[in-house]
Amino acid sequence: MNLALVGYGRMGKTVERVAQEGGHRIAAIYTDVEPVRADRVPADVEVFIDFSLPEAVPATVREVARSGRPIVVGTTGWYEKLPEIREIVQEAGIGLLYSPNFALGVHLFFRLVEWAARLYSRLGIYDCCIQEIHHAGKADSPSGTALRLAEIVRSHWGGKSELLFDRPSGRIASHQLHVTSARCGFFPGEHSLVIDSPEDTIELRHRTRSREVFARGALRAAEWIRDRKGVFTAEDMLTDLLGQS
Ligand SMILES: NC(=O)c1ccc[n+]([C@@H]2O[C@H](COP(=O)([O-])OP(=O)(O)OC[C@H]3O[C@@H](n4cnc5c(N)ncnc54)[C@H](OP(=O)(O)O)[C@@H]3O)[C@@H](O)[C@H]2O)c1
Repeated sequence: MNLALVGYGRMGKTVERVAQEGGHRIAAIYTDVEPVRADRVPADVEVFIDFSLPEAVPATVREVARSGRPIVVGTTGWYEKLPEIREIVQEAGIGLLYSPNFALGVHLFFRLVEWAARLYSRLGIYDCCIQEIHHAGKADSPSGTALRLAEIVRSHWGGKSELLFDRPSGRIASHQLHVTSARCGFFPGEHSLVIDSPEDTIELRHRTRSREVFARGALRAAEWIRDRKGVFTAEDMLTDLLGQS
């Protein structure tokens, strides 16, 4: 594939290396100094891959839509803009695939978490919380993946109806789901669902060991979105690849 990268930081550079190792070509690189402009996109660009900053995403998608190419958005922290982005994508008739986490294994982890939340909450003796840890340079907190996990648990754990991201001011209420974020060192990303009773603890954890896993997932997503129109998530792609709903 001929790719255009939007953002050339930690992830942009990793995508570039993994893409080139896989025989793909980087036809353009866009940065904050030289953002995407529809009229300057090289003719051979087939798909855009964005790992930039959340505030840059709406303008990028607008220009990419004007250029008529599909885009994979790995940047996190912009999801409150999703309705606006959806409109831009639908009007332009392009494809957009976004995910807070392109480690494809994490999407199977989401399914395990959903199943665990349904099972353990039914017994009435377990409580749960979500923990995440990322490198000190991560811009957004909680991570997009932690937000997604929190929504899954809230939807499937009977009795958990409120998400609590901040430090509790006293005792936590049983209907609150506590989500904690730590920032330290170089962790590419780790997310856990901790389930606890007076006598036992169950931990489901997804640990990313390197950024390459996100790059490989984003490249897979670029291939998948190339001939599709509309807004999709990595979960849609995985459902399609696994052939099940
Ligand atoms: N979905 C996933 O699987 C996944 C995995 C890892 C990370 N992420 C997310 O990906 C994003 C990037 O992460 P990162 O670690 O690569 O961050 P990073 O190292 O800070 O890189 C972001 C880059 O985007 C550039 N940028 C800023 N505005 C831009 C614009 N308008 N157009 C193009 N580029 C622009 C920044 O330039 P300056 O530094 O000059 O501002 C910076 O080089 C974050 O939102 C992170 O949470 C997602």
